[in-house]
Amino acid sequence: MTNPSSSLRSQAWFGGFSRDVFIHRSWMRNQGLTDDVFDGRPIIGICNTYSELTPCNAHFRSLAEKVKQGVWQAGGVPFEFPVMSLGESNLRPTAMLFRNLASMDVEESIRGNPIDGVVLLTGCDKTTPSLLMGAASCDVPAIVLSGGPMLNGRYRGQIIGSGTSVWQFSEAVRAGKMSLADFAEAEACMSRSAGHCMTMGTASTMASMVEALGVALPTNAAIPAVDARRDVLAQIAGRRIVDLVKEDLRLSKILTREAFENAIRVNGAVGGSTNAVIHLLAIAGRVGVEVTLDDWDRFGRDIPTIVDLMPSGRFLMEDFYYAGGLPVVMKRLAEVGLLHRDLLTVSGSTIWENVEHATCFNDEVIRPLSKPLVQSGGVAVLRGNLAPDGAVLKPSAASPRLLKHSGRAVVFENIEHYHERINDPALDVDENCVLVLKNCGPRGYPGMAEVGNMGLPTKLLKAGVTDMVRISDARMSGTAYGTVVLHCAPEAAAGGPLALVQDGDLIELDVENRKLHLAVDDIELQQRRKSWKPPAPPFNGYARLYCDHVMQANLGADFDFLLGCRGHAVPRPSH
Ligand code: FES
Repeated sequence: MTNPSSSLRSQAWFGGFSRDVFIHRSWMRNQGLTDDVFDGRPIIGICNTYSELTPCNAHFRSLAEKVKQGVWQAGGVPFEFPVMSLGESNLRPTAMLFRNLASMDVEESIRGNPIDGVVLLTGCDKTTPSLLMGAASCDVPAIVLSGGPMLNGRYRGQIIGSGTSVWQFSEAVRAGKMSLADFAEAEACMSRSAGHCMTMGTASTMASMVEALGVALPTNAAIPAVDARRDVLAQIAGRRIVDLVKEDLRLSKILTREAFENAIRVNGAVGGSTNAVIHLLAIAGRVGVEVTLDDWDRFGRDIPTIVDLMPSGRFLMEDFYYAGGLPVVMKRLAEVGLLHRDLLTVSGSTIWENVEHATCFNDEVIRPLSKPLVQSGGVAVLRGNLAPDGAVLKPSAASPRLLKHSGRAVVFENIEHYHERINDPALDVDENCVLVLKNCGPRGYPGMAEVGNMGLPTKLLKAGVTDMVRISDARMSGTAYGTVVLHCAPEAAAGGPLALVQDGDLIELDVENRKLHLAVDDIELQQRRKSWKPPAPPFNGYARLYCDHVMQANLGADFDFLLGCRGHAVPRPSH
């Protein structure tokens, strides 16, 4: 009945006839399992982030059933298990506060259970990095299966995109150009099917990243959640994970340095979210692959953005899928030597074999490299005395006229201070000023909230101003846009120079030369530092653990004690 000499880790639970094995098998049998379930077949975990409070992942029960079908078809045995689900639209104070916590849930759930391989069901923003970080820490065979984007939003004959249109509409309301009744009507028009945000926000970006890394199957990123082909992909993922276990194709064999270089380039080509910077740094840290913030500039700098999706462009993920999806983008990059082509992926084929037959059906949505949306896409990594360890800006979402700019600082000490002042008609601000927001980094918020794309002062919106330079240690939603400098490191709460900026200081931004400079002399800054006090850790409980151990944005904002791969061996394997 069992095979105790099997190399499958699940056989350490189910193989043989000891007292402990009796316990493991007997309790599992209460689910009506047949004898042959325990005979040495690969046991596949289906790691599910289903939650009705995570609406982007609320369809995952049926998706998991499709994966199970595939696992059974290939001779494996599927067991679904829940992990913490991080819903971006509901979770307060910010879902990012819990990314590392969820990754610990995933890691320990995999390691502690009789699992030979795992399919990771991901969708809403943080669910992708948290699951991949956790699985990478165990280094088991794994396939990421995204839940897919929502159908295009449609409002009064126009397509509208998750997040991006919310920012536009709310600014229009504040500027007096849209009524509240119209604003309310748009709600149901935007989110009209199962799935995650359908702009190239963080969810779609991360779904693209896992496909580019080779840990998801080709076409994973773009198939709409409600398209039957998503169910087909789920079945194929179920079949394929059984093969991966037999081949012992673990994550560390796929998540190589070259795979991350590919992903950085693909991120530039799709106009991906700045959040991908932090998440990929954290994932690399879990497998012990050295990827630095400067790699984002080195490999992404000259990559043209060719996918014309909101927030950088016009279209949405549904259009992207019909145009051919990510395989077309990767083929176009690979053809001109911008991707490592021979890397192995979870499909069992190389990157090039996955994409070589991809066909583009709409050159407006996926443009040729010769006609990009933005010539130099990617993520610009800025440095200077305001961000010695780096800051980032997404050129494709910025106003070209502001990419070289000097302006007077208008400073908000924290997000509450910003809310107090931003609508004040007496606020001393004009369109050439630089809005500076402090204490919204990993430790400062805590959790590094998506508030970096702070709304413009109401009086300037009413005057028709649409963009200003904004600088903070926060993140911004992948669906957002604007000339926004993010992730300043070290953050203000850690004593970074951002903490020392005062109203009226001159700040110089020069994206072409990757400079971010505070034009205040060093002696003055030293004086200011003498009166700076670090904010007291504001919470007990988990938030306190977070503040004590979170690393800075340029290191991926992971916990210092989670760096490196711990493998799948259980420290104390028996009762
Ligand atoms: Fe879930 Fe955007 S809110 S992906």
